Amino acid sequence: MTRRARIVGTGSYLPQTILTNAELAARVDTSDEWIVERTGIRQRHIAAEGEFTSDLATAAARRALEAAGIDAAQVDLIIVATATPDQTFPACATVVQHKLGMTAGVAFDVNAVCSGFLYALSVADAMIVTGAANTALVIGAETFSRLLDWEDRGTCVLFGDGSGAVVLRAETGSGAATDRGILAHRLHSDGRYNDLLYVDGGAGSTGTVGKLRMKGREVFRHAVTNLAAVMTETLAAADLKAEDVAWVIPHQANLRILQGTAKKLGLPIERVVVTVDRHANTSAASVPLALDTAVRDGRIKPFDLLLLEAMGGGFTWGAAAVRW
Ligand code: COA
Repeated sequence: MTRRARIVGTGSYLPQTILTNAELAARVDTSDEWIVERTGIRQRHIAAEGEFTSDLATAAARRALEAAGIDAAQVDLIIVATATPDQTFPACATVVQHKLGMTAGVAFDVNAVCSGFLYALSVADAMIVTGAANTALVIGAETFSRLLDWEDRGTCVLFGDGSGAVVLRAETGSGAATDRGILAHRLHSDGRYNDLLYVDGGAGSTGTVGKLRMKGREVFRHAVTNLAAVMTETLAAADLKAEDVAWVIPHQANLRILQGTAKKLGLPIERVVVTVDRHANTSAASVPLALDTAVRDGRIKPFDLLLLEAMGGGFTWGAAAVRW
């Protein structure tokens, strides 16, 4: 017998305001046609003035708790994956903790940019498996619209705001790949590539927030290779094969990356949950947003094998195999 962390509820939240490609084309030299053809993105959601990452995170968390039928008081661990916390400190997770009315438990943030949710999920899984936590809220939440240079057409068309959350609960499993819950995860980072995707400011350097900068073509080149490798590695760690996967739940950066990665694994694109067209790249929020979408529309069924994956600034990348 072994301790497993099982996802028992999901939730997500998108700000009300939608920004379409056509609206962006009125601001910078781009077109709906270019954005759709190169990225698959058609629209993105943008947080309202005064609506912060912690608000988005709390809304997703409430929905996940409701879906799980669990009261916030039962949660003993909150991890928020974000690169856009409301303030430099305190951690966004403690703000969410307070907004949920909790006064106990452990709450902290993880920053691995677009891979943040995979990192946070892996940390929460490790804490549950070792008995350091029993019921965890793992949240990915971002307001990337506030980090964008709205005059840089190479980046401002790619990102959006949103949040997603899961509730993890400790359960007992047999230790086999047929168990429900998180079966395996693998994480990687390589700081040699810091300058391909970064923010040109920070509390400890310029004293300003800064704006997102990216060499898109080079990021793209690394993405397909790294993601396919870590997905294969994670499946092997769980003693599973690509053909066992019911749904790939990928980080939603670019439709062409999703297509390229699926092809490398020999999986049809029909088995990949795609939300990039409606949400764009919501960084750490994109995997739990896609997961919640496919759970709520009924695509994901009990005992389906899910393969979650993401890559982001650093570079950081990772994957997790989850039996639903
Ligand atoms: N509208 C119109 N033209 C644009 C544009 C836009 N929004 N953005 C860039 N271009 C132009 C470029 O200026 C370039 O013009 P040039 O050839 O005259 O210099 C041309 O389009 C091609 O640019 P390139 O960067 O080679 O395009 P691409 O096919 O690589 O697509 C990205 C650009 C950004 C969409 C793509 O590289 C990408 O998605 N990269 C990965 C980004 C990513 O996933 N980041 C997050 C990871 S977490």
